Amino acid sequence: MKKRRIVVTAALPYANGNIHLGHLLEYLQTDYWVRFQKMRGNECVYICADDTHGTPIMIRARKENRTPENLIEEVWKLHNDDFSAFQVGFDNFYSTNSPENLAFCTDIFSKLQQSGALITRTVEQLYCPNCKMFLPDRFVKGTCPKCGATEQYGDSCEKCGSTYGFDELKDAHCATCGCTDLEIRGAEHILFDLAKFKPYLKDWLEQHTPGDVARKLQEWFGEDKELLPWDISRDAPYFGFEIPGHPGKFFYVWLDAPVGYMASLKNWCDKHGEKFEDWWQNPDAELYHFIGKDIVRFHCLFWPALLHASGYKGPTHVNVHGFLTVNGEKMSKSRGTFLNARVYLNHLDPGYLRYYYACKVNNTTDDIDLNLDDFVQRVNSDLVGKITNLASRGAQMIGKRLDGRLGEPDEEGAALIRDALSRAEVIAGHYEARRFSQVPVEVCKIADAANAYFDAHAPWKTIATDPEGTRKVLTTILNLYRILAIYLRPILPVYADNAAALFGEEPWTWASLETMLVNRPIGEYRYLATRIDPKAVQAMIDEQKALFAAAAPASAAPAPAAAQTAASPADVPPLKATIDFAQFDVCDFRVARVESCTAVPKSKKLVRFELDVGPLGHRTVFSGIRAYYPDPSVLDGKLVVFVANLAPREMKNVGTSEGMVLSAGMAETGISVLTVLGSANPGDPAC
Ligand code: 2FM
Ligand code: ZN
Repeated sequence: MKKRRIVVTAALPYANGNIHLGHLLEYLQTDYWVRFQKMRGNECVYICADDTHGTPIMIRARKENRTPENLIEEVWKLHNDDFSAFQVGFDNFYSTNSPENLAFCTDIFSKLQQSGALITRTVEQLYCPNCKMFLPDRFVKGTCPKCGATEQYGDSCEKCGSTYGFDELKDAHCATCGCTDLEIRGAEHILFDLAKFKPYLKDWLEQHTPGDVARKLQEWFGEDKELLPWDISRDAPYFGFEIPGHPGKFFYVWLDAPVGYMASLKNWCDKHGEKFEDWWQNPDAELYHFIGKDIVRFHCLFWPALLHASGYKGPTHVNVHGFLTVNGEKMSKSRGTFLNARVYLNHLDPGYLRYYYACKVNNTTDDIDLNLDDFVQRVNSDLVGKITNLASRGAQMIGKRLDGRLGEPDEEGAALIRDALSRAEVIAGHYEARRFSQVPVEVCKIADAANAYFDAHAPWKTIATDPEGTRKVLTTILNLYRILAIYLRPILPVYADNAAALFGEEPWTWASLETMLVNRPIGEYRYLATRIDPKAVQAMIDEQKALFAAAAPASAAPAPAAAQTAASPADVPPLKATIDFAQFDVCDFRVARVESCTAVPKSKKLVRFELDVGPLGHRTVFSGIRAYYPDPSVLDGKLVVFVANLAPREMKNVGTSEGMVLSAGMAETGISVLTVLGSANPGDPAC
């Protein structure tokens, strides 16, 4: 089959906030689709960038007494780390504040000028004489003219939902400095004449957007309706690109943000010896944008019209998804359900969320609910209980009792394997059409059949009397498991790559389904996934609540206990004597996976780590952190940093400690075990 060439984008996150689980709903579903395309052998690149321009970023940088460039650089690193930890495989994660983006914006602007698609007009806006800037609607507050609610934004009331002009707002004041002497000032703006593209957009919408989205937008296309010109300029001070030939005027952030898709692709092309034109302008190449339903207007009206007007190819399709709710409600800061990616990672494996979202997401704009009880239940009963148990039971029995060698499946097993393989194209169809929720359904059906076969043949009983018959059964089970893990690889890439390693294989492609593993050795079973302890979920919510409470103004919420007792700088222990690099370098830091972490009976201080250190084998380590981990099993499955060459130490009445697990923090305020984010393997050096 001919290889497809596909560019995929996810919406660019603003560079002034943390990545939260709502954002991840989009980046993960896009990632499933991209990884599937790659497994099928297509040329597919996943493009993203931070959305760095605009007033909010400029104001935040001012408040923090730093440059916007410094702020966006820091946020880029945080975003990049979060995405890597969640196994989001961007081919390029760039920034809209880039030379490539300026070049594309300049080019598009001059083409719009040449084709007469721009108009100028005087626009009146509120101006704060104190901040010396025009105020976008979100930076004006006042009393709603309809319901009288105070502290509402300049354009709409969150209380009664009404919309109004800034001149109707009562007691208008600057949200940044509180100034009440706001002026109405006129300034010349540059607008994109959208109405010129009405016939083009009408056709484009029908062909390139989901039916419900197109129908909604078509409401704007009635005979009597006019598409209003879109204001693409903003006045200084503004953090963004100055418009060539228009000093003091800047491109509106919503112009340069989607152009950032092109800029990031160009940057990727330059790094990989590819030509931008072969990817974007190539009529045979496909371009897909994944977005949330809140930004449809920008992607399905302004953006295709801009591209068309400036001679660039438009998107093949815009895939629109719904919002995330948690436990059936809007994410809430006070309930601790406005969950940051980082807080999640402090408690739970990213693979669990990847799996759960896949169970829920499909190709509609319906909202998705993350029900935390259901999350625990699905991961524990399906991913761990039904699926991973096939590998752990099968591989451990073969490893321990049957020389670690697969045989051949029996007749019944061969039929089960054929059945499992017969679902390949159905599952591929689900991925292609973004019916992701159907993939775990299919996978679980096969896992159910495999578990029934396992139970019926009771290998744990037959192993003593009929080892060769048992080998056939376990060979079937492990081949079925392998098929399931291949099907799940777009959703669970790290999990699937670890599973492939168990079979001594390179990362799988869809073509790996053509091979059956017979008469060959397998590796030693290593951790793939363990059950979620519901306490870890509660601990995550508690941490998130405490973070928001600590960030809220003093009158809004008391500081959490940890913050109240935080050590003052004077309490920080003094530095130890300086060492040189050679002294430091004698420590051998390694990544280890916690197989289990348990309280040591009768000890108030100690926990016992059982560690998998990959090629370095297994280690037992005792650590005095019990007071900070009332339930040490929350560390199960975590990747930790471990000093591997520390001499073993006899711990009285307990056993020998074979190394040290690193923790950080002060005893007064709490200690945390240092965990490794991302996809390191046990035994990897840490530095
Ligand atoms: O809504 C948002 O979060 C925007 N930062 C999305 C931009 S997507 C694209 F247009 F760049
Ligand atoms: Zn002000």
